[in-house]
Amino acid sequence: MSDPYFQTLFADRIGGANYGKGTAIYKFEKIKRAKRKALADHPERQLLDFGIGENDAMAPESVRRVMADQINKPENRGYADNGVAAFKEAAARLMQREYGVALDPATEVNHCIGSKTALAMLPACFINPGDVTLMTVPGYPVAGTHSSYYGGVVYKLPLLAENDFFPDLDAIPADIARQAKLLVLCYPNSPTGKTATPEFYERAIAFAKKHDVVIIQDAAHAMLSFDREPHSFLAVPGARDVGVEVHSLSKGYDMIGWRIGWVCGHPQIVRAFSDVKDNCDSGQFIAIQKAAAAALDDPEIPQRTRAKYRRRMEKLVATLRRCGFQCDMPGGTYFLYTPSPKSFANGGPGGTPVHFENAEAASQYLITEQSICTVPWDDAGAFLRFSVTYEADDEKAEDSLMAESESRLKNIRPVF
Ligand SMILES: Cc1ncc(COP(=O)(O)O)c(C=O)c1O
Repeated sequence: MSDPYFQTLFADRIGGANYGKGTAIYKFEKIKRAKRKALADHPERQLLDFGIGENDAMAPESVRRVMADQINKPENRGYADNGVAAFKEAAARLMQREYGVALDPATEVNHCIGSKTALAMLPACFINPGDVTLMTVPGYPVAGTHSSYYGGVVYKLPLLAENDFFPDLDAIPADIARQAKLLVLCYPNSPTGKTATPEFYERAIAFAKKHDVVIIQDAAHAMLSFDREPHSFLAVPGARDVGVEVHSLSKGYDMIGWRIGWVCGHPQIVRAFSDVKDNCDSGQFIAIQKAAAAALDDPEIPQRTRAKYRRRMEKLVATLRRCGFQCDMPGGTYFLYTPSPKSFANGGPGGTPVHFENAEAASQYLITEQSICTVPWDDAGAFLRFSVTYEADDEKAEDSLMAESESRLKNIRPVF
């Protein structure tokens, strides 16, 4: 088929005239294909799916009830623009109650249609061509992608085991620091599971002040903190002078599909965000904002979510350790980030060894040959990400999934 006349019109940021012609298959597509193959080749074998990056439960019934009520109210029908006061006020109450951060809901909080969209829009507030966005890798790439769309340059800060998975801000070259406008952080960190210490945040704030950089702290997993109480960057002295924090109801409230979160912090940045947002969308459905406000006012919801994922994580860590993985309980998130096996001593035909050059190869083997799905990361060492968002109706089902994982992994003998 010949190209459409507009093939040469595609913007360079998405590949220009070559848009859609590449043969590279991206990581998550490879995983999907491998899963399909595993299911087709081994229909009798249960797929042990640790690859899913989203909550397995529906939003709480109490929240769905509010939604059912709000959906019938005529006053909720229209454009929501930059959001209703009820949601901003509930977000401000939560920030005060959970994190001790006092915010003016009118000027220091703005809703977003999920934190992904906020991370996509914030670079529009700051990035001109040639400006630098500092991004940790591995990580959630959206703010970097959009920085590049605006002609910005993404400078990657690797999260290495030897630095305890914190970015080494002192190692950033002086010319990069001079051109940097944004430092994007994410705590609790996806995928490493690390939570931020107050000392790290203090270092980041000092860096931001020294180099005139704005910090965007992605707190999508904020409520899933295990090794310390859920906390906010904005509670650290000086944070409110240098940045904003992006929150979400997706993970902590089981409201992934509802698309609701908020940006809070320095009022001038919140204002710039709301100006950009106003030119991108017309706000989340008001019924959703009001149901989300009810969720934010119920502290038991995130406590329940946290307790469930903590329990599942403890079981997973114990199971993998019995199979030889060197993993510990992560600080937070529902992800376990653990060194990838270099080989499986009995994984090949007739119990022969199989070796892997990176985490991606190990992950592909685990899916296709063992029906165990994980997500590989090779950005800063070879790691596998196991998510505890697998589907299991009750604790018995969780235990049997763990037992099956243990039996399959022990059988092939991971080597590190
Ligand atoms: C680190 C991180 N940030 C942000 C998001 C986006 O979340 P949402 O748009 O659902 O709020 C995700 C989702 O997977 C994430 O893992």
